[in-house]
Amino acid sequence: MNFISMNLVTMLYLIASVCFIQALKGLSSPATARQGNAFGMTGMAIAFVTTVALILKLRAEAAAGGAGMGLPLVALGVIVGGGIGAVLAKKVEMTKMPELVAAMHSLIGLAAVCIAVAAVSEPHAFGIAAVGEALPTGNRIELFIGTFVGAITFSGSVIAFGKLSGKYKFRLFQGAPVSFAGQHLLNLILALVMVGLGLVFVAAGGTEPAWVPFLIMTAIAFVLGVLIIIPIGGADMPVVVSMLNSYSGWAAAGIGFSLNNSMLIIAGSLVGSSGAILSYIMCKAMNRSFFNVILGGFGGAPAEAGAGGAKEQRPVKSGSADDASFIMANAESVIIVPGYGLAVARAQHSLKELVEKLTHKGVTVKYAIHPVAGRMPGHMNVLLAEAEVPYDQVFEMEDINGEFGQTDVVLILGANDVVNPAAKDPKSPIAGMPILEAYKAKSIIVNKRSMASGYAGLDNELFYQANTMMVFGDAKKVIEDMVKAVE
Ligand code: TAP
Repeated sequence: MNFISMNLVTMLYLIASVCFIQALKGLSSPATARQGNAFGMTGMAIAFVTTVALILKLRAEAAAGGAGMGLPLVALGVIVGGGIGAVLAKKVEMTKMPELVAAMHSLIGLAAVCIAVAAVSEPHAFGIAAVGEALPTGNRIELFIGTFVGAITFSGSVIAFGKLSGKYKFRLFQGAPVSFAGQHLLNLILALVMVGLGLVFVAAGGTEPAWVPFLIMTAIAFVLGVLIIIPIGGADMPVVVSMLNSYSGWAAAGIGFSLNNSMLIIAGSLVGSSGAILSYIMCKAMNRSFFNVILGGFGGAPAEAGAGGAKEQRPVKSGSADDASFIMANAESVIIVPGYGLAVARAQHSLKELVEKLTHKGVTVKYAIHPVAGRMPGHMNVLLAEAEVPYDQVFEMEDINGEFGQTDVVLILGANDVVNPAAKDPKSPIAGMPILEAYKAKSIIVNKRSMASGYAGLDNELFYQANTMMVFGDAKKVIEDMVKAVE
């Protein structure tokens, strides 16, 4: 049954790795995202088939040596796990994507811990050490790191999943941050004890692994995962999910080293580094440091919900959907700024219809996308892609910011922080956050339901500008009325 050589395995893993790199490249732009997905699926199929062939080869060799391997269990795992994954992916709504991703990360973390425990228990079964031989020091270090990163990823992702789904009554799953006195000190002490115990495990040679420090270290890592995530507000979870994504990649890479599996090392490192880069990009676009997010800053649910209530009442100019349509239909150029409220109202299809009608009347319409508009990475791109908005109408912030000054009308739909000129004020909490410079346009139309603030809990001076008209109401209803009026 020796139908696959180790050279061929290496070659196929290399091809799969190239596919993964192409997938990441493709996913960096909406226009090539489908192609990127196709590369990703091809790479995963190659990696999967190669690994199954490798298992069969090892099984045949083990059987020749008198040992057995649980192939039926592997097959069962593939069928059950693959089946659940396929059903979930088919059923999931776009808005529920972040929580699905969090749930998947928790499984990667748990898998890393299970593999590490199995490898510590029976290193010979993984080809790490001969029967009766001690685990080499290098492997003990890799297993220690893979285990605690995996355990933190698992429990942290479970909490992130609970907070994002918002369905569960359990206190730790609420969007509001959970904090108590001495929380950071406790985390620090637990982290130090965890690393100390890990080092004891690594230092203890011998044929019998040092189970007690290893298992206590693992238990502390599970607790730390919970403690690190509970003080973070529900609205900050996308950054956390991306960070946990990165952790799950590093955990997989760590285990890849232990198992001497180059595919796992490469795929894990790609996930680890891309997750870290995404977390960095998101923090930069929100002008917040990573530690500010992790230690809990703005973004807690109560602050968000209550933020609009205590505002001083200042007059604003307001108009109807008909007024707005009249202004837009008579403009030469319109830029649309979609935000979180558009996603909440699920108004993307009506918006596409409105843009078609305006374009038909000879108006040049473009969409301006802020990198953190909405509540998850690429939220607005996904939303517009779902409504099949042509990619050439969609512009990233740095490409369109120079155009606002020469644009007749900006239509802001359920967006707030991403157009808040307060970011230009050094004393503002969002000082330095890059914004879409909508305030420079000749006329500004803003649709939202009230004068309530956005995610950052700040008032927005743009709403009070002399050239701004507020159109209050749910985005879907307002856009539908605009479509009728343009007709
Ligand atoms: P926000 O600043 O949160 O503003 C959204 C606005 O939409 C609110 O002011 C709300 O006002 C309005 N709204 C809600 N439901 C609506 C509906 N059904 N119809 C019409 N309007 C509705 O959103 P943004 O401008 O997209 O900015 C995103 C914020 O989230 C940024 O501060 C960003 O840093 C943060 N954030 C983003 C991410 C990612 S990755 N995207 C991750 C973490 C945090 P009313 O209540 O008055 O309607």
